[in-house]
Amino acid sequence: MCGIIGYVGDEAAAPIVYQGLENLEYRGYDSAGIALVNGARATGGSRATGGSRTTGDVAPDVAADGGLTVAKRSGEVSNLTVPDAPDATCGIGHTRWSTHGPPTDANAHPHVDCAESIAVVHNGIIENHETLKAELGDHEFTSQTDTEVVPHLLETELSETAGEDAPDLRTAVERVVDRLEGSYAVCAIHADENRIVAARDGSPLVVGHGEDAAFLASDVTAFLEHTREVTYLEDGDVVDLSADGDVEVFAPSDDAAESLPRRPVDRSVETVEWEADAAEKAGYEHYMRKEIHEQPTALRQTLSGRVDVDRARVDLDVSLPEAFLERVEEVQIVACGTSYYAGRYAARLIESFADVRTTVEIASEYEFGAGRDPDRTLTIAVTQSGETADTLGAIRRADSAGARTLAVTNTLGSSVTRAVDDAVFIRAGPEIGVAATKTFASQVTTLALLAVALGRERGTLSAARARSVLEDLRGLPGAVQQALDAEADVVTAAERYCDEDAFFFLGRDLGVPVALEGALKLKEIAYDHAEGFPAGELKHGPLALVTDRTPVLAVLTEGGAPAETMTNVTEAQTRGADAIGCVSADREFGTLDVAFEVPDVGLLEPLVANVYFQLFAYHVANEKGRAIDKPRNLAKSVTVE
Ligand code: G6P
Repeated sequence: MCGIIGYVGDEAAAPIVYQGLENLEYRGYDSAGIALVNGARATGGSRATGGSRTTGDVAPDVAADGGLTVAKRSGEVSNLTVPDAPDATCGIGHTRWSTHGPPTDANAHPHVDCAESIAVVHNGIIENHETLKAELGDHEFTSQTDTEVVPHLLETELSETAGEDAPDLRTAVERVVDRLEGSYAVCAIHADENRIVAARDGSPLVVGHGEDAAFLASDVTAFLEHTREVTYLEDGDVVDLSADGDVEVFAPSDDAAESLPRRPVDRSVETVEWEADAAEKAGYEHYMRKEIHEQPTALRQTLSGRVDVDRARVDLDVSLPEAFLERVEEVQIVACGTSYYAGRYAARLIESFADVRTTVEIASEYEFGAGRDPDRTLTIAVTQSGETADTLGAIRRADSAGARTLAVTNTLGSSVTRAVDDAVFIRAGPEIGVAATKTFASQVTTLALLAVALGRERGTLSAARARSVLEDLRGLPGAVQQALDAEADVVTAAERYCDEDAFFFLGRDLGVPVALEGALKLKEIAYDHAEGFPAGELKHGPLALVTDRTPVLAVLTEGGAPAETMTNVTEAQTRGADAIGCVSADREFGTLDVAFEVPDVGLLEPLVANVYFQLFAYHVANEKGRAIDKPRNLAKSVTVE
């Protein structure tokens, strides 16, 4: 939700910032904007304003005043005209997912102060913006956003220190962010300096180290084509990026006696392993289809070096203390969206392999209930991005209650990794399409490995059963590939059914989370009414909705009680519905209208059915000409509660 990018160095900033916005667009596409320090004036030293630069060729997007060039526009990044400013080597950009104020040009970021000398972009929510706005008095506001208070607060801070030799944007940012309540990653520039100052608390921000240049973004994918050397900032940090690429980080001081609110700190530089082209479309029309097709590779990465079939062991780079494993009485999984369904799948495996009660809760609904013993509880946050506010809130509640916490995430350095005792990475590679696909399979696979590890360590899973599950896991990438190879059949089904009224997804046992996830995909990207049900529930209500215009899609595989599920499918067919089934290779249900074959991978077969459902949703949406990678009203990473 909202993407931030910043660049300062010796190259023209506008194209770099614009490219960064395109890379970040999955975080929000309600509006986009860029602010640049006009090169001609950016000599540093003086805080006098004036000398504005006119850029008539990019009007009406651009308001060039006070030494900044600002271009912003509602809608997708492609609506934005890139300012023609070859001399400007410092700039910030923003792609928005609206919270306060509708997606209009005026509400697009960057926002500026009255003198148009300071520009700010922000991700998060400033809860006390009304109070701060009232305190600001007669400043001129032009938007309905919470963000706009920040440039005006900075203006006030800087005017209070006017007359000193140089503007101290960093001190001003420190003072201002310490007055903000809520969550933020904010990034500010001033017309008089090629310098970016930013701060984070509750929203992600990562620095990229280039050659004589520095980058700043909500996510490394924004600048991966320029550098893979990064520093993940911590909550409370303020960072100062200077024109020669120097980066200084300041963290809140623990010492109350110190006069300054923050002190310089060393934050480590890490190398991102993702290849730059991993975040590109590589010839596919949509990221989503590319990511669906990447699943065999992603799954091999997830499994790589972690499975020892002969010894019936799993090495997940995390070892929970033996004494804890002996006493653990409950595993809780907290997650949102697709990650929640991955958690539902995994919960069944954990209960079955490790013989421990496992609950799964929508993160925004989670409380650490009375009567639970934190000392015997493991709470797992499942989150692709590692930044979902609801999931972070839940795992923090578990942590405060005293539970042991574990993150299962795709994103190194993400906020969740700092909020938990241990983290395991799903290694799916970057996922850009808003609808999660490959990360679902990698999440379930990682959690299945965890279930085996827990079962083995607790002595509840026999070596023979563990070997059989691990063999199935090793077979999963090949089985998924077989489903992908049958894509043409899915296209035919999508063409046949794309205009129906509604779609019902049915499953039992491990087929239930896949039915729910299948329906979610279709809702997200095709905007069709789709619902997932435990198949047995159909007759208790939803059957009233079934007509000859409501096809049912069913998981009829191992792990999903296929014979019983087929009984419910038949009930729908009797009422006129067509039935599409994903069926284990060794079964046949002759009455299905369409059947997709699922190779034998035991309890993982519903995961292969899920690949067919992903392809079905994709091709239905494609038939309808939907904005598949950027579905309306959604964002990939939702960093507000
Ligand atoms: C958003 C996305 C979903 C995603 C959910 C959880 O709603 O649109 O695709 O499943 O967030 O995201 P997470 O990063 O925590 O897995």
